[in-house]
Amino acid sequence: MQNNRVLSGMRPSGRLHLGHYHGVLKNWVKLQHEYECFFFVADWHALTTHYETPTVLSENVWQMVIDWLACGVNPGAAKLFIQSRVPEHAELHLLLSMVTPIGWLERVPTYKDQQEKLKSRDLATYGFLGYPLLQSADILMYRANMVPVGEDQVAHVELTREVARRFNYLYGREPDFEQRAEAAIKKMGKKNIKLYNKLKREFQEKGDQESLAKAHVLVSEQQNLTISDQERLFGYLEGLGKEILPEPQALVTEHSKMPGLDGQKMSKSYDNIISLRESPDDVSRKIKTMPTDPARIRRTDPGNPEICPVWSFHKIYSDESTKSWVQEGCRSAGIGCLECKEPVIQAVTAELEPIRTQALEFESDPNHVRSIIADGCEAARDVAKETIDDVRQAMGLGYR
Ligand code: TRP
Ligand code: SF4
Repeated sequence: MQNNRVLSGMRPSGRLHLGHYHGVLKNWVKLQHEYECFFFVADWHALTTHYETPTVLSENVWQMVIDWLACGVNPGAAKLFIQSRVPEHAELHLLLSMVTPIGWLERVPTYKDQQEKLKSRDLATYGFLGYPLLQSADILMYRANMVPVGEDQVAHVELTREVARRFNYLYGREPDFEQRAEAAIKKMGKKNIKLYNKLKREFQEKGDQESLAKAHVLVSEQQNLTISDQERLFGYLEGLGKEILPEPQALVTEHSKMPGLDGQKMSKSYDNIISLRESPDDVSRKIKTMPTDPARIRRTDPGNPEICPVWSFHKIYSDESTKSWVQEGCRSAGIGCLECKEPVIQAVTAELEPIRTQALEFESDPNHVRSIIADGCEAARDVAKETIDDVRQAMGLGYR
C-alpha cells in the first residue's frame, strides 16, 4: 500500500484562534503541497458533545471554512468538504460498528476523560461512545495513510488501525478478487500489461524483491486506475487478496501546544485565546493585560522569563537577538514588562493582518465559499462511493 493520502478533520465548535493556526492550519498548508489532502468540517462530531445546542453548528461551520481559506488552505490543492454532506460516512460508521467490540471504545482514553471534563453535559450517550469509531470511518473512507492530529487524538488513529485490521481479517479477500484483479490489469494498456505480468511472475517464482518494487511503481503510476484497483493489483502481485481498508499512520503535529494568554494551553474553554479575526486594538489590549512573572512587582524587580507566559510567545515569535534582549533585560530588570510585550504585539498583529483581510474578502462572497465546499464534497463523495461499494461487497451486501 503506498498511496499518499492525508485526511484530517476539525470540529466546528467555536471561532478559530492562534492555537489552531500554529497547531493545525500551518501544517495543513504545508501538507497540501506534498500530498493529496482531504480536509473536512467534522460537524457530526460536534453534535456528539453539543447535541443540545445545534446553533453551535450553524454559527461556526462557514466561519471555520472561511478561517481555513484565510490561513492559506487552498481548494486548488486540497479537497475541502463537510462531513454530513457525504452521508457515506454514516453508512461506513454503521457497518464498522458491527465488528467493533464495545470494550475497544470504552477503553479509548478520551471517553472517560471528556466525560469527566465536560461534567455539565450528559455524555452517557451512544453517539459519544461511538465517536472515535465515526472518526475511524472518516479516515478509512479515504484510505488515507497519514492522519495529522494532535497528541490527544493518537489513540483514535490507533483504534482505527485495529478496526481496519479486524475488518481485513474478517473480509480481507473479495470473493471475486481474481476476476476483478484481471479486469484491472486489462485497463493498463498492452505494454504495461505485459510488464506487470512479467514482474509478477519474477516475484512469485523467484521471490525477486526488485521486481516487486518495480511492479509497485508501475501500478502507482497508472493514472486511470482507481485506488481500489491499484490495491487489488498490489495484493495480486503477492498472491494476497486486496487489503480493503489500509491501516493509517498518525502524523503527530509538533507545536500543538500554543500557549494561551495565561500560560495554559490556548483554548476557548480557558478564555485565554487570541482569535484569528482579532482586531489590532484587541490584540494589543489582550497582550498588555497578560500576566507576567509575579516577582516583578516594581519596574526595578528582576524576573524570570521561564515562568512568564510572555516568554512563551517570544519563543514562537521572536528572533535570537530579541530573545536574548528579553532574557537579559528581564533578569536584570533592564526592561519593563510592557516594553517586553511590544515586539510580541507587533509580531502577532503582523501575522493576523493578512488573515483578517482574506477572511473579510471571503466573508463578503459567501457564494464563492459555498461553491468551494460543493466541489470538495463532490470529490470526496466520488472516493467515498468507491470505498463503501467495496465494503458492501465484502460484507455480503453486494446484491443491492
Ligand atoms: N475528533 C477530531 C477532533 O476532535 C476531529 C476529527 C474527526 C478528525 N474525524 C477526524 C481528525 C478524522 C482526524 C481524522 O479534533
Ligand atoms: Fe515576562 Fe518579559 Fe516581564 Fe520578564 S520582562 S516578566 S519575560 S513580560
